[in-house]
Amino acid sequence: MRDAGGQTKIRGSGYEAWLGYPRQQFGGSTASDLEYYGALYIVEENETLQAAAQEYRRGMASMLGIAVANAAEPGGACVAIGTFQGGNERIQNVFDEQTIRAVGPEGYAIRKSRENHCIAVGASSPIGVLYGVFHLLRLAKTSTGNEAFDEVVNPANKLRMINHWDNFDGSIERGYAGHSFFYKHNRFLDNPQRLRDYARMMSSVGINAIAVNNVNVHEQETLFISPAYLPDISNIADIFRVYGIRLYLSVNFASPLQGGELGTADPLDPEVRSWWRGKAAGIYAAIPDFGGFVVKADSENRPGPFTYGRDHADGANMLAEALEPFGGLVIWRCFVYNCKQDWRDRKTDRARAAYDHFKPLDGRFHTNVILQIKNGPMDFQVREPVSPLFGALQQTNQVIEFQIAQEYTGQQRHVCYLVPQWKEVLEFNTYAKGEEDAPVKHVVDGSIWNNRYSGVAAVSNVGDDLNWTGHLLAQANLYGYGRLAWNPELSAECIAEEWARLTFGSDPAVLDTVTRILLDSWSIYESYTAPLGVGWMINPDHHYGPNVDGYEYSPWGTYHFADNRGMGVDRTVRSGTGYSAQYMGPNAERYESLEDCPDELLLFFHHVPYTHVLHSGKTVIQHIYDTHFEGAERAAELLASWQTLQGRMEEGLYLQVEERLLEQAEHAKEWRDKINTYFYRKSGIEDQQQRTIY
Ligand code: GCU
Repeated sequence: MRDAGGQTKIRGSGYEAWLGYPRQQFGGSTASDLEYYGALYIVEENETLQAAAQEYRRGMASMLGIAVANAAEPGGACVAIGTFQGGNERIQNVFDEQTIRAVGPEGYAIRKSRENHCIAVGASSPIGVLYGVFHLLRLAKTSTGNEAFDEVVNPANKLRMINHWDNFDGSIERGYAGHSFFYKHNRFLDNPQRLRDYARMMSSVGINAIAVNNVNVHEQETLFISPAYLPDISNIADIFRVYGIRLYLSVNFASPLQGGELGTADPLDPEVRSWWRGKAAGIYAAIPDFGGFVVKADSENRPGPFTYGRDHADGANMLAEALEPFGGLVIWRCFVYNCKQDWRDRKTDRARAAYDHFKPLDGRFHTNVILQIKNGPMDFQVREPVSPLFGALQQTNQVIEFQIAQEYTGQQRHVCYLVPQWKEVLEFNTYAKGEEDAPVKHVVDGSIWNNRYSGVAAVSNVGDDLNWTGHLLAQANLYGYGRLAWNPELSAECIAEEWARLTFGSDPAVLDTVTRILLDSWSIYESYTAPLGVGWMINPDHHYGPNVDGYEYSPWGTYHFADNRGMGVDRTVRSGTGYSAQYMGPNAERYESLEDCPDELLLFFHHVPYTHVLHSGKTVIQHIYDTHFEGAERAAELLASWQTLQGRMEEGLYLQVEERLLEQAEHAKEWRDKINTYFYRKSGIEDQQQRTIY
């Protein structure tokens, strides 16, 4: 992506992502908003408001080719932006008391007022204004030029977080888009422009919290909370702050042991507690609005309270006490399981772990602790059920954790638009309130149990590749995650269309094709990979490409129990691991029952013969053959559809996606062949359609 002279080529690279605002053609002749768009009225000096003004000018220049003037003329037509209390008379004139009261701390109001000759974006805080300006730009992009703007918008979730898994050496755990743009060779990179552009992108979709280092905290990153490193961390926080983003750090639970400072990290030891209090004070002296700590403890070889015979509430509360005086949060991950467990008894079950560890602790966590729960009980598979902890924890702050990085879903070499999957999870009824609807989205937004803190977190998919995400279409996941975290009611279709329009412009053929590719992609990826919810079947360690018995912690043989009669994991209470009982009411019944269990999760919950007939009417084995043949064909069709767009967009954008889709089409065949052959050999059952199985 660099030319011979080393100059970075931005146009056509994908670097501008959805903030490039391709030139807009207004639909009808009634483009009356243009009259407002040409001038901006702002009176506040605040950095965030100035950033909002800059975004506005940049967006309008690109979209409409206009150089926005300062609205110096009193009463002249303009876009007016400002806080309700900021002394902007246009804002004061447009918004009434009732509207002002309806706008929350991060929300905004947009109104077109003919009387006042303006489109006004008002908010109670500067960041609300910035969010409002990004929204106005989105509206302008999708507009026909004469809409009646009048809305109040507030985010549904308080915490809208991104977790980076970046290491200080510059590598990114599960990173598929190059290296870190924060660090390299154990140094902080000096590239404020890239960080600012990243903050702009994140802010434009409403992200307000970013943890900048890997949850697996190695020796070097353990030092991030020490005086030697805090000035550099603070520089990042300064950039983020302008865009309404609080910086968080992942910390090592055993930090007090580092360098022999203390002889223990026991959370109940007074010296340990005072050590953490001292650290917190040091951090807040450097970064007054520091968000808090993200902690992975007692999992996958990370240290934690178990070493000292303490539980996770003891561990989390100790850190919470240290951060509490400064308003900081502890985000404690529930991805806790014993990776060395032996499951051959067919009763021991990794899927049970999060619930078994955390359900008994419900109610014991301090009010500034938030549990971060992965969307499913295993690990971001293409298909798994929703974590039963949602609904089960009723007296604990919690956020859901998604993975935007496509660790198990094609690693940003395959297209896999994950927003439909996330939507399904958020809509899932936990039955925690009996007859009353209790979907995950209302558990995590805090409304069901009136939690003090609530929200959504996700593992980032960005790196220093010029287009941020490796696969250009993977930007749709990043965009979609932010939009959904802000407003879980948006549909996957609407988000896909919005992203396509902002990225490629308004050509209907492009919009239609890109949206269709995105919306089909999850089901296509699922169809040629692990079938019916069984998961994995992926190369251990790096997690790319097919491996029929693949699961890294596999000294005990296959995890899916496939033999010549059948396959699947029996998680029923009747004869299996009992996992299905972690769900409530109808969910527990549905999963327990072989008849009622949804097809797509059958092998997650039941061990069945290959001849078992699904609701679809097909046998399990025929389903596997059919989906894998069809999946590979559909992957090839993705490429063919994309190729119809040649010449309809910047060539650079076109070519980079074509290259990835070519690879996907090839790789899908390998998946098809490995999976089909394996099951053919195991089962000895012929494909009804007599296709060649290699
Ligand atoms: C997965 C992933 C790890 C990561 C872990 C986590 O197991 O493969 O790289 O550390 O999830 O979420 O902590």
